Amino acid sequence: MMVTTHLRFTLLLLPLAFVVIVSSSSQVRATNVGIESFSSPFATNLATLQSQIGYNFTNLNLLRRAMTHASFSQENNKALSVFGSHLIETSISLHLLSKDIDTSSKALTRLIAEVSNVDSSCALDGNRLGLERVIRVSPKTDASNSAIVCGGFRAIFGAVAIDSGMVDEAIKVFWKVHGDRGWILVSVL
Ligand SMILES: *[C@@H]1O[C@H](CO)[C@@H](O)[C@H](O)[C@H]1NC(C)=O
Repeated sequence: MMVTTHLRFTLLLLPLAFVVIVSSSSQVRATNVGIESFSSPFATNLATLQSQIGYNFTNLNLLRRAMTHASFSQENNKALSVFGSHLIETSISLHLLSKDIDTSSKALTRLIAEVSNVDSSCALDGNRLGLERVIRVSPKTDASNSAIVCGGFRAIFGAVAIDSGMVDEAIKVFWKVHGDRGWILVSVL
């Protein structure tokens, strides 16, 4: 009599134990997925970007901000992008006049305009780094838009200058990323 009751009780518990095990293991799986998406492709992209540009940020928040469009957040890359744009102009002027102090103002202005041009140069540099896949935008915004890619590209140099406290560092990174294609134009001018 005692044995039968005990057995029946155990049999009742078995399915319950099964349910508990299954549900707790699926809970663990769900939690893991949550953590993965939180530590995120964005973090991985920032790490990749640093190795592409050959510069490791001390303050990674600066690169995070550089890769954040105004449509995504109040903390965005607008000011860094303006700063970066001036740094690119400075880079080109320094490079060109150091090579040839007799460079005409017209040639210098044209080269600056060429390298700064959103569609013919700036966005191409940004695309080469894959920025259209890195820059955070609002769901309704297309991150592959040239102006957005270009803004992010420029902001990188603003961020490097602030992180290092040195304009030189940003200029070095710019030439590494842009390459020497600009000089082909110089000979034409
Ligand atoms: C950046 O950090 C990585 C990983 O620690 C290292 O391998 C790389 O050499 C560093 N790059 C520079 C430019 O310091």
